[in-house]
Amino acid sequence: MPDRTQAIHFAHQNQTRFLDEMKDLLSIPSVSTDPERIPDMQKAAEWLMVELKKRHCTNIQLMPTPKHPIVFAEFNCGDPSRPTVLVYGHYDVQPADPLELWQSAPFTPDIRKDYIFARGASDMKGQIIACLKAIESIQAVGEFPVNLKFLFEGEEEIGSPNLEPFIRSHVELLKCDMALNPDSGMIAADIPTVVYGLRGLAYFEIRLRGQTTDLHSGIWGGVVENPANVLASLIAGMKDADHRVTLPGFYDRVRSLTEKEKAEMSRLPMDEAYYLQSTGARALAGEKGYSWVELASTRPTLDVNGLYSGFTGEGSKTVIPCYAMAKVSMRLVPDQDPEEVRQSLVKYIEAHLPATMTCEVLIHAGNPASFTDLNTPGVKALEAALTTVYGKQPVFKREGGSIPVVLHMKRLLGAESILTGFGLPDDNLHAPNEHLNLPNWFRGIDTLIHFFYNLVK
Ligand code: BES
Ligand code: MN
Repeated sequence: MPDRTQAIHFAHQNQTRFLDEMKDLLSIPSVSTDPERIPDMQKAAEWLMVELKKRHCTNIQLMPTPKHPIVFAEFNCGDPSRPTVLVYGHYDVQPADPLELWQSAPFTPDIRKDYIFARGASDMKGQIIACLKAIESIQAVGEFPVNLKFLFEGEEEIGSPNLEPFIRSHVELLKCDMALNPDSGMIAADIPTVVYGLRGLAYFEIRLRGQTTDLHSGIWGGVVENPANVLASLIAGMKDADHRVTLPGFYDRVRSLTEKEKAEMSRLPMDEAYYLQSTGARALAGEKGYSWVELASTRPTLDVNGLYSGFTGEGSKTVIPCYAMAKVSMRLVPDQDPEEVRQSLVKYIEAHLPATMTCEVLIHAGNPASFTDLNTPGVKALEAALTTVYGKQPVFKREGGSIPVVLHMKRLLGAESILTGFGLPDDNLHAPNEHLNLPNWFRGIDTLIHFFYNLVK
């Protein structure tokens, strides 16, 4: 029996144990944005180090950054002429709140029917485990076909603020022929997908201050300005009635789609009904002149992600708040530059801010968009693996989400990222009741086994 058949057999025999190991990792609440979870971040990193040890890795290191540590390891297949694949993952997850909307506790993984429910199941601890278990299955039956390196970071969900300098100062250590990045997903469980583009992200916090203290809205209302009102109108002015962003120069660098790209995208099974059904929206809304799938992956956006001012508790309180805050982010497309976008936001605010207010703009993330070259051997290996396991050719798609590491790897290491993942759009990423479709996850492990073998024919 050829190795790959044996490896797939091993994976099938061990599905229950693989699932248990995923549950283990999912039980650690590694929320990177929450300072109270720092010990859990450490725990998740150490969990991975133990697993890497079991995968026969060497040079396993917990490497500090100004915030959360990076886990690094190597696996040498004994043949220096074989390619080296750097496996990327992030062990951090998004916050679980609002907690009351979860049907089972977010960090107590719960299997219901074909799904496992937990924060991070789909994004992306489940995907990390799929890679590690594919690797284990191959190791269990024979020689590993390629050399491996591992880079697991703990800051992806907060925009990977320390990753670029880390990669820059470890270029030799991280040198590889390609990166395997399983942090994206598929269109549907029966549509194998290769993702070849990601949007970037520019994320800001806008803080407005009016008076030095909250004021009685009866005694003082009418003579002072209200930062909540001002913030609301600032935000309202950031987009026009046609859903176009009004920040000066915002679209200047946006590359338009080629006819070929437009034609390819029109073949994707993502029509209005798909988006209505997936989002639960009453009606869709977006810029004119583009299809829905174009809007969701190739056009830039501007969205308020959080908004706070004044009294938000039960009941009512008559107050003019002294402070208002909005978290505003833009998804960027090639060739927009996050720093230029920041300057344009600041220019817009300066032009519209009344003299009654002071304003501060904080940066939370600034990552440009990225593309993967479809003609690289890694993409071919993935394409063939997906075709074998799913019984049909994959579709090629640009994704609307962001993964900062992809561009850093390209710029600093010259490495293309092979983007895959076995989560689905309706997995409730970043939302309550995040889950992962288990039959598809098992197919994902099989796919990754084929992928590694396909790299060396
Ligand atoms: N896995 C996602 C990105 C993603 C989602 C890719 C769906 C493809 C399909 C990733 O973990 C993520 O959520 N990234 C953040 C990055 C940001 C904080 C810089 C995002 O896109 O919001
Ligand atoms: Mn995410």
